[in-house]
Amino acid sequence: MAAAGLCSFLATAFFLLASSSALVEELDETFKETRQEDVWLVDFYAPWCGHCKKLEPVWNEVGIEMRSSGSPVRVGKMDATVHSSIASEFGVRGFPTIKLLKSDMAYNYRGPRTKEDIIEFANRVAGPLIRPLPSQQMFDHVQKRHSVLFLYVGVESTLKEKFIEVASELIVYTYFFSASEEVLPEYVTLNEVPAVLVFKDSTYFVYDEYEDGDLSSWVNKERFEGYLHVDGFTLYELGDTGKLVAVAVIDEKNNSVEHTGLKSIVQEVARDYRDHFHRDFQFGHMDGNDYINSLLME
Ligand SMILES: *[C@@H]1O[C@H](CO)[C@@H](O)[C@H](O)[C@H]1NC(C)=O
Repeated sequence: MAAAGLCSFLATAFFLLASSSALVEELDETFKETRQEDVWLVDFYAPWCGHCKKLEPVWNEVGIEMRSSGSPVRVGKMDATVHSSIASEFGVRGFPTIKLLKSDMAYNYRGPRTKEDIIEFANRVAGPLIRPLPSQQMFDHVQKRHSVLFLYVGVESTLKEKFIEVASELIVYTYFFSASEEVLPEYVTLNEVPAVLVFKDSTYFVYDEYEDGDLSSWVNKERFEGYLHVDGFTLYELGDTGKLVAVAVIDEKNNSVEHTGLKSIVQEVARDYRDHFHRDFQFGHMDGNDYINSLLME
């Protein structure tokens, strides 16, 4: 038995080494029929595109890791120039386009193209829309792992239906949980249940339909920490939230007080005036002025 176990282990290891790219399946027209059977993470690429070539080794690693972690998500790639009609049916317009396809839904990935970020996205979107937190222990665990988390508190309600609807759209960005009131930490006080809360910045905010309007736009606004290291990508994302963005543009390598001091001031405003400003403002700093100078602000 031991020998057989070893053999199959070696065979597996050999398979992983010898054919890492085989863990990424090359997809063609037949994918249209077969996609519904599984959850797929697909890279739509064009052979001539430089960003696609850069993604390729990362994508192979994603394939290896998804397989070795036992994930049910299958990893594929499709030459969108050869299979252009199916690619356009999936709404592929630029290259590379990364999508997670789950039953008849297609979720776009827009984050940084690193192995860790892509895998995190795939596991988040492929998993349950709403993750139940049955105990205080689970809540603490999840809170340690996520700098921002959205939580529904209560039993079935129209607010919960709305929460599920919003989660199915915004799970591409963040996690959604549910719990009963007993699971909440002692510092949380709720005037009424059901409620939707966001935990972040060492505090929490309760969604108020009257003040915050639509739940979806509230989640979209609250999904960022109060203070961020802002890069071009984040700034672009923040543009969608309707928030005003106040950033210190500094040289992070410069230790002079002009740079470190400016950053601290913005951090302090973000922290000390949180209750006052968090609804409408996003705070942070950018390292270097290249991006901001090249940006055409509307
Ligand atoms: C740091 O910033 C100050 C003020 O902008 C500038 O005068 C100084 O030359 C910078 N130092 C370095 C090492 O870049």
